[in-house]
Amino acid sequence: MSRRPFAIYTVGALCALLLVCGIGLILGQVFRTLMHNRLKKEIVLVEGSRVFESWKRPPPPVFMEYFFFNVTNVDEILKGAKPIVTQVGPYTYREYRYKDNVTMVENGTMVSAYNTKSFVFLLEKSVGDPTVDNITTVNIPAWAAMNKAKISFFRSSMLNMWMNSLRTGLFTTRTVHELLWGYEDSLLVKISTTNREVEKDFGLMIKKNGSNDGEFVFHTGEQNYLDYGRVKTWKGQRQLTFWSTNESNSIAGSDGSAFHPLLNKDERIYIFTPDLCRTIYMDFEKDVVVKGIPAYRFTPPSSVLASKEENPANEGFCVTSNECLGTGVLKVSPCRKGAPVVASFPHFYLGEDKYIDAIGGMSPQREHHQTFLDLNPTTGIIVRANKRAQVNILVGRVVGFPKTKNLTETIFPVMFLNESVEIDDASAMRVQKLLLITKLVSNFPLFIVGLGGIMLMIFIVLLFRAHKQKTSTEEDSSYSPVSQKDKDDPQNGNCIGLTPKGGTQA
Ligand SMILES: *[C@@H]1O[C@H](CO)[C@@H](O)[C@H](O)[C@H]1NC(C)=O
Ligand SMILES: *[C@@H]1O[C@H](CO)[C@@H](O)[C@H](O)[C@H]1NC(C)=O
Ligand SMILES: *[C@@H]1O[C@H](CO)[C@@H](O)[C@H](O)[C@H]1NC(C)=O
Ligand SMILES: *[C@@H]1O[C@H](CO)[C@@H](O)[C@H](O)[C@H]1NC(C)=O
Ligand SMILES: *[C@@H]1O[C@H](CO)[C@@H](O)[C@H](O)[C@H]1NC(C)=O
Ligand SMILES: *[C@@H]1O[C@H](CO)[C@@H](O)[C@H](O)[C@H]1NC(C)=O
Repeated sequence: MSRRPFAIYTVGALCALLLVCGIGLILGQVFRTLMHNRLKKEIVLVEGSRVFESWKRPPPPVFMEYFFFNVTNVDEILKGAKPIVTQVGPYTYREYRYKDNVTMVENGTMVSAYNTKSFVFLLEKSVGDPTVDNITTVNIPAWAAMNKAKISFFRSSMLNMWMNSLRTGLFTTRTVHELLWGYEDSLLVKISTTNREVEKDFGLMIKKNGSNDGEFVFHTGEQNYLDYGRVKTWKGQRQLTFWSTNESNSIAGSDGSAFHPLLNKDERIYIFTPDLCRTIYMDFEKDVVVKGIPAYRFTPPSSVLASKEENPANEGFCVTSNECLGTGVLKVSPCRKGAPVVASFPHFYLGEDKYIDAIGGMSPQREHHQTFLDLNPTTGIIVRANKRAQVNILVGRVVGFPKTKNLTETIFPVMFLNESVEIDDASAMRVQKLLLITKLVSNFPLFIVGLGGIMLMIFIVLLFRAHKQKTSTEEDSSYSPVSQKDKDDPQNGNCIGLTPKGGTQA
């Protein structure tokens, strides 16, 4: 036999092997599974893992912007008019976050940490100087005190007297810095002389600079990748105690800083937020691309803050039935020492019209007031996020306080914040590289199939040419079979010659 047919059959066999292997690997998704297992193994919260350092000290810069609602018609409001507010902001702070006292607990299956944040003001990204700009808004300490005192005639009379002597109004004018980071309130000072538990200072972000919101214990994700970054306990509790049902009190999901890899479009993402004293959730909205990295956008649906009529699962959030609010607002008094604080999205986005219409100057817009989270589905890494929330105070008639008699029950907006983060260029580059490797490895079988295809083409060409050559040699040289026979003959002779030899030996 000549070498050519052998080469042809080798090519043919190789091509068949490659095609079968390649298609088999594609159908079995072997390399994809391998790569996914690798990701699951590497994205865990243990010392030396790919993500641990950036989990402890996230490199992307976080900006916190505060916007205030400056009340323009205080005197009219006190006579019963609709409040008119103007939005003032942003006052922007660079937020530095890191995880403090990170320790492995429970035999290394859990990790305990404190989430520390500090804020440094950025004048160039702000509308003005927070220590100078004056904002007129609801006098929150007074409203909190009135709400506490209204249950007893004695206490409300006492408070009324104090408020009159101190000339404490229902509204107050303070600088942005005071409202955020705290000021000594004369009414609180007075109250603290009789009740030592009451603090003299008030501020929306008081004591939040350089502090943490309690100990978190997280799952590392080593046992199950779906548990990566999931909160197990907060301040030693597995459940909250603020609300009235187990569902509302549940601590589910992560703290918003880590999400498991290999995300699905139809999964619901849970985030436990100590600020809101509850777990919220987000659903897939659309595909986005940030700095070349593909991501899924998750946003909270309106059912998160829906009234209990619209979403019975929210029943536990209205603790006493006579003060249940409507859709788009969450009364957080149980975790604000009873102060009439109401949380919502900015400008009552996703809220009922009655809340928006009650205040002059509200205009909710999805683009500006939506909270969202863009996660890379392969790695679970946050590529961009905007958390937007508004602080409101429930104002209205309070029994025993004549000053409030003309007020209509209103959820009064005070401030909203926009906490935003976008992946930094260095991290983006690393993620892109990782995604590229994942893609290449996952698609390796395609490469094999491609190679098989090329071999198939070579095989066909060779076969065709061999066939052509064979027919052409058959045509012009009739002795060729003879020569082949000549070649075979000596072998045959040998065989024949050997047999008689063996025969004689036997
Ligand atoms: C808030 O409104 C008051 C008048 O109602 C005005 O004097 C003040 O300058 C406003 N504050 C800011 C920061 O614009
Ligand atoms: C971290 O640990 C140190 C020493 O054990 C302790 O002094 C500090 O208070 C801890 N930090 C937090 C935030 O608990
Ligand atoms: C840690 O592991 C050891 C040995 O496997 C076991 O005896 C012990 O109970 C474990 N402790 C915890 C807190 O899981
Ligand atoms: C927060 O604390 C840091 C240092 O601990 C300080 O530089 C910064 O000015 C503080 N921010 C505010 C808003 O007080
Ligand atoms: C803010 O109010 C304070 C005290 O009333 C006043 O001294 C200051 O000038 C005001 N700031 C502005 C920008 O009007
Ligand atoms: C934050 O949201 C506000 C609200 O409209 C918007 O004006 C601002 O540009 C946002 N900032 C970032 C960094 O997205």
